[in-house]
Amino acid sequence: MLQLVIVALMLLPYTCGQNPAIQVLLTNKGLQYGKHVGAGWIQDMLEHVTLPDIQGNFNTLIGTIQYTLSGLKITKCDFPEPNVEFSETFSGFKTTITGLNAALSGGWAIKYYTIHGGGSFDMAILGVDVTSVVSLGRNADGHLSVNSVSCDGEVQDVNIQLYGGSRYSYCIFFFQICPAVQKSVEELESRLQAMNVSYAVNQVLSLELPLTRLPVFSPSNLNLGLKGEFYSIQTHAEPPFQSKPFTMPDLPGYMLSAGVSEFSLNSAAYGYFSAKKLQILITDSMIPKLFPFHLNTSSMGPYVPQLPKLLPGLLMNLNVYATEAPMFSVQSGFVNLTVQAAVKASAIESNGSNVPLFTLKAVVMLGGKMWIADGRMKGSVMLNNFTLTLASTEVGPFKTDNLEKMCKNGIELFGLPQVNKKLAEGMMLPRMKHVTPVNSVLTVEEGFITISSDAQVLDVL
Ligand SMILES: *[C@@H]1O[C@H](CO)[C@@H](O)[C@H](O)[C@H]1NC(C)=O
Ligand SMILES: *[C@@H]1O[C@H](CO)[C@@H](O)[C@H](O)[C@H]1NC(C)=O
Ligand SMILES: *[C@@H]1O[C@H](CO)[C@@H](O)[C@H](O)[C@H]1NC(C)=O
Ligand SMILES: *[C@@H]1O[C@H](CO)[C@@H](O)[C@H](O)[C@H]1NC(C)=O
Ligand SMILES: *[C@@H]1O[C@H](CO)[C@@H](O)[C@H](O)[C@H]1NC(C)=O
Repeated sequence: MLQLVIVALMLLPYTCGQNPAIQVLLTNKGLQYGKHVGAGWIQDMLEHVTLPDIQGNFNTLIGTIQYTLSGLKITKCDFPEPNVEFSETFSGFKTTITGLNAALSGGWAIKYYTIHGGGSFDMAILGVDVTSVVSLGRNADGHLSVNSVSCDGEVQDVNIQLYGGSRYSYCIFFFQICPAVQKSVEELESRLQAMNVSYAVNQVLSLELPLTRLPVFSPSNLNLGLKGEFYSIQTHAEPPFQSKPFTMPDLPGYMLSAGVSEFSLNSAAYGYFSAKKLQILITDSMIPKLFPFHLNTSSMGPYVPQLPKLLPGLLMNLNVYATEAPMFSVQSGFVNLTVQAAVKASAIESNGSNVPLFTLKAVVMLGGKMWIADGRMKGSVMLNNFTLTLASTEVGPFKTDNLEKMCKNGIELFGLPQVNKKLAEGMMLPRMKHVTPVNSVLTVEEGFITISSDAQVLDVL
């Protein structure tokens, strides 16, 4: 079940030493749920599994006897719910299983020089107690690492009943629990080390999630600090701003929480910007029919009075591009966004060539809210401020006030309603194959967004 918990947190690889931009918190509630599901899974699994054959020797006064146990089946197993807790001391988890009882059956065979014997057997293993401590760490390259610190296993009694051939009262079966624990920890470790550093989010962005510090354990939770930085796949350019530290609140009521910082959002915006994906060519055909303005020089009279006289009756287009990376500002309750863009206006000659007219500087400030409803992440935005200034002109100076008013109306009447319709539909929360988030909530804090959730494991097998 430890595997399940850790694999569920699998987010990982390589280092940097910078402040984590994403923090993942596993609470005691999450740990106990993971353990409960894991224990049920192990109980089910044990009842269906055929164990590998066991071969070995045992020494007697008369010499060495070879034995084989084959076709081992667990006929009954009481797998008591283990006790699992966070261990601050060992920076890991302490698992205790007490009073595990199992009944097995199978075939046995022995060989002593030329003497062979065999038959079937029933075995009862009684009172197995195991205490295991594993610690979590971080490798130089930022992978999460797991290590078995200690393991104590005790079996109070093994009763074996052999049928066919002679009877041996030897306890020929050494129940090797701790080596098995050690082996599964090593398997988990090699799986963790094989995990990827970076995930492609879409065609433009990748997300890097190595641990930037050691896992932090407290009696009530485990906190993993991840780099959480988006990059343009094409440029992999480092943004000119840095990740600031933030402190996740204690959220004992939810199994898992993730804190995503302003830096993480801004690195995504910077990734788009550095890949030059934040530009659009606006042509007349893109303007809604109902909008009382069209992109041609004749209709520009109220805004650029000289234009209809200089170049009458020509269609126009606008090349809009971000001049700086858009910046998110995350504050209690709001996720606001400032976009600075240039708008280059051109007229299109009848032979198709573009005549540059003027360039405007636009600053758009949006105020947004985010929340989770019906298992979907939703939001809404409003326009906080919009300014338009003249940066350069090929057709002589003009005042931008009217143009600014018209654009502002356009954004509020046509742009935002469309965006808000999409945001109201929302986006499914990310989910894993067999795990559904339930009771999820999103809160916007000073500098970061927290998503907290319980999980429901549907069907592990
Ligand atoms: C790791 O990343 C590589 C390339 O990005 C991909 O081909 C591979 O499938 C990934 N492996 C895992 C385990 O996700
Ligand atoms: C220019 O746009 C106006 C509306 O703003 C429209 O009435 C007119 O027909 C358009 N002219 C051309 C040449 O497209
Ligand atoms: C297109 O026409 C304009 C004037 O009507 C002229 O100045 C320009 O050179 C022409 N461009 C091309 C590519 O023919
Ligand atoms: C963010 O947007 C909200 C909603 O419009 C607004 O009330 C708030 O003042 C904005 N915050 C900043 C810092 O601009
Ligand atoms: C909008 O921004 C401009 C320039 O930054 C500022 O002068 C103006 O007061 C702002 N308007 C509002 C309503 O915040």
